[in-house]
Amino acid sequence: MKIAVLPGDGIGPEIVEQAVLILNALGESFEMETAPVGGAGYAAHGHPLPEATLKLAQEADAILFGAVGDWKYDTLERALRPEQAILGLRKNLNLFANLRPAILYPELAGASTLKPEVVSGLDILIIRELTGDVYFGQPRGVRVCPDGPFKGQREGFDTMRYAEGEIRRIAHVAFQAAQKRDKRLTSVDKANVLETFQFWKDIVTDVHREYPDVALDHMYVDNAAMQLVRAPKKFDVMVTGNLFGDILSDCAAMLTGSIGMLPSASLDANNKGLYEPSHGSAPDIAGKGVANPLATILSAAMMLRYSLNKAQQADRIEAAVKAVLAQGLRTPDIYEAGTRKVGTKEMGAAVLQALL
Ligand code: IPM
Ligand code: MG
Repeated sequence: MKIAVLPGDGIGPEIVEQAVLILNALGESFEMETAPVGGAGYAAHGHPLPEATLKLAQEADAILFGAVGDWKYDTLERALRPEQAILGLRKNLNLFANLRPAILYPELAGASTLKPEVVSGLDILIIRELTGDVYFGQPRGVRVCPDGPFKGQREGFDTMRYAEGEIRRIAHVAFQAAQKRDKRLTSVDKANVLETFQFWKDIVTDVHREYPDVALDHMYVDNAAMQLVRAPKKFDVMVTGNLFGDILSDCAAMLTGSIGMLPSASLDANNKGLYEPSHGSAPDIAGKGVANPLATILSAAMMLRYSLNKAQQADRIEAAVKAVLAQGLRTPDIYEAGTRKVGTKEMGAAVLQALL
């Protein structure tokens, strides 16, 4: 089995290094090949998603991705910015289903900004549609405003759209995920204002007829954001579009104390996937050896479970992560008084130790 390793920018290389060490220690014979992506891709080949990197990703059975983005590249034209690498991979590989679990480890209840009783025991799964919506809808750009009180001025515009088949396939993923959990699904929309999301709601409701064992409810996105902070444990699985999912998943991530803990999987129709931490490249702490590698290590566990059919190995990694948290090891993002502050490498080494 071949894994494409795409470390990217900022803290990407440091955290991916730890996940690779752990994958190598499992006693499986994975073939791993590394390629530059994001700002690193631009620096090496003049494009954030170099052709050879895309080809490697296409040929691999799974992709382990770090993070992309660096201030250095923010002034490039949009098509050359690091973010285009991850958007291009999602689109080219048809990775339409993004799974972002938010689990609060009991040891970290005090690291959340919310009261421990609001978040302790939290275990929700956000499923974000990843290849449609206003992220990819055409047309988009800057044009001369054709009508209204600002007619004749320049205006920026994007297109929000969802095709029926696009909504159906993500709805199926969500209902099936709910079937494996507490059988409750919340579809998040903005049907009170947007045509796209009235349509979304209608299609999800229709797909629900095939999953009578799952309880479905619908929630407007503004209310969903509020409920995520007010009573997050009421949710089991949430499904939503690309833009709302981007925002809600960051919000859900912080419930757990640190975005540095949260893995994610982006899957195609055959469970081939790209696995990445939910956080970004954090250029402010890059190279300092303090980044939390656990989200990436847990992403590697998701990769074993969803794409490589090695659920037992995934369990081993997840158990090892729980063990090091129980030992009191903390990177600075999750540090509290009374625990032991460690760096990226020390945290990775402790997980490796706990595996064996
Ligand atoms: C994410 C990120 C990306 C997104 C950026 C880096 C393009 O925020 O994966 O959530 O908006 O999807
Ligand atoms: Mg985001």
